[in-house]
Amino acid sequence: MLRQPNVSRRSVLISSACLFAWQASGIPAAMAAARRPLSSRVKSLIAQMTIEEKAGQLTLMPTPWTSAAAAKINPEAALRNVENLTDDAQAGRVGGVFNGFGVEAHRKLQTAAMKGRLGIPMIFAGDVIHGYRTVFPVPLGEAASFDPDLAERTARAAAEEMAATGFDWVFAPMVDIGRDARWGRTVEGAGEDVLLSSDMARARTRGFQGRSLADDASVAACMKHFVAYGAAESGLDYNTADISERTLREVYLPPFQAAVDAGCATVMAAFEDIAGRPIHGGREFLTDILRGEMGFDGLVVGDYNGDVEIAARGLAADARDAARIAIMAGLDMSMASGIYRDHLPSLVQAGEVPMERVDEAVGRVLALKERLGLFEDPFRRMDLKRQKARMRTKPALSLAREAAQRSIVMLKNDGDLLPLPREGKRIAIIGPFAEGPSNLHGPWTLFADNKEAVDLASAVRAAVSDASLISVVKGSEITAPIEGGIDAAVAAARSADIVILAVGEREAMSGEAASRDLIVVPAPQQALAEAVAAVGKPMIVALRNGRALALEGAILNAPAILVTWFLGSEMGNAVADILFGATGPSGRLPVSFPISAGQVPYYYAHRRPGRPANARYITSRYDARFPFGHGLTYGEISYADLVTSSKQIPKDGSLRVTVTIKNEGKYAARELVQLYVQDVVASVTQPVRELKAYKHVDLPPKRSQQVTFDLAAADLAFLGVDLKPVVETGKFKLWVAPSAEAAGLAEEFEVS
Ligand code: NOJ
Repeated sequence: MLRQPNVSRRSVLISSACLFAWQASGIPAAMAAARRPLSSRVKSLIAQMTIEEKAGQLTLMPTPWTSAAAAKINPEAALRNVENLTDDAQAGRVGGVFNGFGVEAHRKLQTAAMKGRLGIPMIFAGDVIHGYRTVFPVPLGEAASFDPDLAERTARAAAEEMAATGFDWVFAPMVDIGRDARWGRTVEGAGEDVLLSSDMARARTRGFQGRSLADDASVAACMKHFVAYGAAESGLDYNTADISERTLREVYLPPFQAAVDAGCATVMAAFEDIAGRPIHGGREFLTDILRGEMGFDGLVVGDYNGDVEIAARGLAADARDAARIAIMAGLDMSMASGIYRDHLPSLVQAGEVPMERVDEAVGRVLALKERLGLFEDPFRRMDLKRQKARMRTKPALSLAREAAQRSIVMLKNDGDLLPLPREGKRIAIIGPFAEGPSNLHGPWTLFADNKEAVDLASAVRAAVSDASLISVVKGSEITAPIEGGIDAAVAAARSADIVILAVGEREAMSGEAASRDLIVVPAPQQALAEAVAAVGKPMIVALRNGRALALEGAILNAPAILVTWFLGSEMGNAVADILFGATGPSGRLPVSFPISAGQVPYYYAHRRPGRPANARYITSRYDARFPFGHGLTYGEISYADLVTSSKQIPKDGSLRVTVTIKNEGKYAARELVQLYVQDVVASVTQPVRELKAYKHVDLPPKRSQQVTFDLAAADLAFLGVDLKPVVETGKFKLWVAPSAEAAGLAEEFEVS
């Protein structure tokens, strides 16, 4: 898929000489620039509101949420959990809540809010990151599909379910670029690449929001976390970041721009600070760039306590001061801390915050509620019948299976070990991820029930003709050995014909506040792998992971390796579908798997060095073990006949690139054809390669197909020395290749 011309990186490659020279007070022009006109209803409500009621609208509070499973067992307790919020709702002390559970609880709160003086409906938000009751693959896994259309469909399905239980607003898509695999939240985004992340950001936004926010199956999207949250130093969650303005603009802003251009209604501020400037209190970020440059005209919400933490960082004297800094920076709604409710009235009274600024923020909250149709019918998304009817429907589960299949990446398949026959083989499934309901969904599935997901062992048993040939042994816990575990595993491997080794990370090893210092398979599982591999049976490794891993020893040397992430409700079935060839693997890595954990942060589009990279570590090569874009199919794929329409294109021209992809194998294959470019001589050092386009091609056995890309010269823009976008004339290299580091086919052309 070629990047849409209207949402290219160019649109955010806008220089701002005043980025770090923002005004200390007053409402800047930029803030006014991206204003949505208010309806007369909203204007009239604002005119009637007290400052306390306004501060209430700007306050978003967590519900003491309970899991779906707990609520099923004890719905009374789930309801009691919201009791303490109902008074606040009726008194107008809260504008919305998040992560509540179920239609009844939501109705209860909304009923209270509607009894309030002005009858302003509440808004209900939820962290539905990759599915509600039907769970789709973690976003990083789904990005491996390189299929924005699929991501749009799963976001739509998630919206339909969550909107049926009273949610109006989803805290997704997470569009942070993840280039440091230690950072646990890489699992929530689309990986390391700017183009793929932008495509996914746009698609997920569209999926959540549908055609109209007023639709009872649509929710307002919230792109997060603005901005460069993934640049946290050491990959440590919540850590400080220190990136150049160039990197901010070239790498971290484009996915947000894509979401803005897709109409994303809201944005969440990131927890971190960049070079000492906290996002929650940084007007240069939340107002000048976001509104002034990127044209965002929706609602800016803080992240959980991120505003009051401005004080913890030493940038504000106390919570009151933090509230002043945050609202003046452009943070419209405060999450969890309650500091707007506590301090805005006195700040306005003291003249430290202009009422205009408060009204502007309130206008944005009310306008969002209006767009969601909540003034017409505050209960429009709270319908018990719909809640039942829309959960885990057949089409949703079949979409979950499709998405899961498409997310699996086959790293290796030596000797064509896969696909496996369904008959006549004794298969030992070994490892802590072999069976059981845990670690199938992945992080951030607050509303789903683990027990509803399909595990690997059950799916394999169902896929083969004789389930008695399947044996299952845990062998090891995830991070601790089991006494006698290895012996049992070795015995199982000895009496099997084939071993499936299910190893990797538990779901709590990625996600928020779940960074790892070493991105390896935990030692007890590595020991299990070594012992099982020594038995000598053909072994397939099925990795469970929420990030790139540095694979070693017996795991790396296994003839077949599948990256299976956390695939959600249909995890086991999807893995079995690939193992037994019901469908072929087609996923590609959205993050580079480095050779060694010490290389991190490693990403393919690093700038060209002056000396050969491979001479620089004495202990390891400096490239990826499995590069970005890598993934095998069951076909035998070859690339031939790369032809470009010209050797020279003008700055406003474009280049047609054609290549023939052949499948000489005996299985059908879905190949992802990738187009990379390098600007050979430029005024600023350019990446070794950059992905510019990608396309899938479906090839039956013994067939070939031509694939065509149209590359616009404008797609070759970068930020010049003055941080202004420029397409420089001169030589470019171009590769059509099966991964970011594969040789593929190469050509050169010039921009003149
Ligand atoms: C903190 C997380 O950073 C954010 O992604 C999430 O949406 C909020 N908490 C609300 O749960």
